[in-house]
Amino acid sequence: MPDAVPTSRTVAARAVDLHKTYGKQEAEVRALDGVSIDVYAGEFTAVMGPSGSGKSTLMHLLAALDTATSGTVFIGDTELSTLNDKQLTKLRRDDVGFVFQAFNLVPTLTAKENILLPLSIAGRKPDEAWYDEVIDTVGLRDRLDHRPNEMSGGQQQRVACARALVGRPTIVFADEPTGNLDSTSGAEVLKFLQHSVRELGQTIVMVTHDPVAASYTDRVVFLADGKVVDEMRDPRPDTILERMARIQVRALETVAPEGGAA
Ligand SMILES: Nc1ncnc2c1ncn2[C@@H]1O[C@H](COP(=O)(O)OP(=O)(O)O)[C@@H](O)[C@H]1O
Ligand SMILES: [Mg+2]
Repeated sequence: MPDAVPTSRTVAARAVDLHKTYGKQEAEVRALDGVSIDVYAGEFTAVMGPSGSGKSTLMHLLAALDTATSGTVFIGDTELSTLNDKQLTKLRRDDVGFVFQAFNLVPTLTAKENILLPLSIAGRKPDEAWYDEVIDTVGLRDRLDHRPNEMSGGQQQRVACARALVGRPTIVFADEPTGNLDSTSGAEVLKFLQHSVRELGQTIVMVTHDPVAASYTDRVVFLADGKVVDEMRDPRPDTILERMARIQVRALETVAPEGGAA
């Protein structure tokens, strides 16, 4: 089976038996219900699953943007619960990049200023060679002086990706980065993310519900009802669709074991 997990890889992020509950008593929602996952360094990992399956919650916990109800998260070798507030702020700033569905660029700043904003806030200078590599990879050298409203959606999202990458974080999380883009612009962004992994050695985790988007990655982890229900390596759109169908059938069988859900 192509799904065998490589044993010798470095783990860039790890979740162990994560539970996340929102609300109380009758209003309680179990967004994550015992999720364990290893994200390997230098890989492009996709997280897929139906709406409400816990994908965004998992991203936020892995990126240290929110805390779990129970369970542990590691970024590299660091267990997040061992960090104090100051150390957490530093980890969020230096080790984690995040790309959102809405590009979240500052409209009054140029592309270049947006890309360098997190470093400016942190009082850090960019590593020039890395900055050049990111700018060339993102393919926006001739747009660096443009403001977001002078760029297409795909270009804006590539700026947001460059902003997430420029500080050379341990890991980048992207939550439906192509969700607001047409397929051509989406493909530009996906190619850039894939190139960042393959050529620049970045580690990226991307949430998507699009099998074509997920086919740009090395590995797909499937969530349903707050649990990891399956995974596959070297995904293709057709194999992803087939696997999603199988997961759906299994879910129906659980609800109607007598075959009542024909
Ligand atoms: N801040 C919140 N307060 C209450 N419920 C939430 C909150 N965030 C997410 N949820 C619920 O948790 C579940 C998982 O949500 P989410 O992680 O956003 O799923 P996905 O990203 O897969 O669509 C959903 O039922 C959602 O309604
Ligand atoms: Mg979501």
